[in-house]
Amino acid sequence: MRQWRIIDEWTFDGLKLVEAEQPEPGPGEVLLRMKAVSLNYRDYLMVNHGYGRLSGELPIVPLSDGVGEVVAVGDGVEGIAVGDRRLPCFNQAWTGGDLPDHSFGGALGGPLDGTARQFMNVAATGTAPVPDHFSDEEAATLCCAAITAWNALVEMPATAVDGGIVLTLGTGGVSLFALQLAKAMGARVISTSSSDEKLERLRALGADETINYREVPDWGKAVLGLTNGKGADLVVETGGGETFNQSLRATRNNGTIALIGNVAGSVAEVNLPLVFMFRKRLVGISTGSIADFQAMMAYLEDHPIRPAMDDPIRPFEDLGKALEAMPEGKHFGKIVIRVD
Ligand SMILES: NC(=O)c1ccc[n+]([C@@H]2O[C@H](COP(=O)([O-])OP(=O)(O)OC[C@H]3O[C@@H](n4cnc5c(N)ncnc54)[C@H](OP(=O)(O)O)[C@@H]3O)[C@@H](O)[C@H]2O)c1
Repeated sequence: MRQWRIIDEWTFDGLKLVEAEQPEPGPGEVLLRMKAVSLNYRDYLMVNHGYGRLSGELPIVPLSDGVGEVVAVGDGVEGIAVGDRRLPCFNQAWTGGDLPDHSFGGALGGPLDGTARQFMNVAATGTAPVPDHFSDEEAATLCCAAITAWNALVEMPATAVDGGIVLTLGTGGVSLFALQLAKAMGARVISTSSSDEKLERLRALGADETINYREVPDWGKAVLGLTNGKGADLVVETGGGETFNQSLRATRNNGTIALIGNVAGSVAEVNLPLVFMFRKRLVGISTGSIADFQAMMAYLEDHPIRPAMDDPIRPFEDLGKALEAMPEGKHFGKIVIRVD
């Protein structure tokens, strides 16, 4: 079989498409023939050893996201049959409840081998079924970005979503899922982007109001202007360093910032009294557990959303090139790779 592997150095020169032995499922495992995988900014960081010791040891198969068809079942597996479609959950070590200690040992695509391969063994209990209405390409987008957006929304007080105001930043995978899920849950959504063309696409996906953060650098104030000076109940904070203070400004009193990412830097200088004087909550979000996946899939069964995917779907050979180009931000929606 073919697989992508970061072989001998943590750089894009070290990332190669290579031949490997097709595995057999061990006890409790299922063997998936991968149909499609998708990219996350995390995967880009991973190639450059962006997670340090949490990235794992070389060689490693990258990517956390994908979907496959079960082609063999190991001893002791119950309730899963050959032909089923299953999604490997992001963090194999987090079954449910609070994030356990040392949990990052279970993350796919670093430190565990990930999804960028034609065949993959995974613990049957670490997989989730996928609603039938998703195509393989759509299903492959749900592993990391969607579960993170889901947790940002469902872990928050209910007022943040149903009838509340949610602010999303930019048009990355997490932000688009947050927009679509928040709309499905009954929120009013304000979304930002650097491009007017992308703002139009955000409105087509359901955003009620949009702001161009390049043209309006004080977009936190603009959110107050759109909300009678009140602010958003929940900010889905994917930017980090450069965006955090604007997000703080855009959050209403007693509101919540779900801190998720750092596409715009990892360090922010924060005027702390603005947090405590106005009772703002800062909550770190770290993907989700296997139980969260099952809850999200059950929700999606009844609330079908169409994940936004960048056009075109890429062939397997283009995975490295597509991943390296990710920071250029030319994509809209998830970058999906067909595995064949
Ligand atoms: N905590 C977790 O569990 C978790 C899970 C998944 C992802 N993450 C993190 O969340 C972040 C987003 O991930 P992703 O996969 O959604 O990334 P992505 O798809 O690569 O997002 C890229 C988008 O970020 C937007 N962006 C860049 N600079 C921005 C800025 N200054 N202000 C607002 N938006 C900006 C751009 O939107 P426009 O082009 O529209 O301007 C760009 O298209 C990453 O840092 C990732 O590592 C964390």
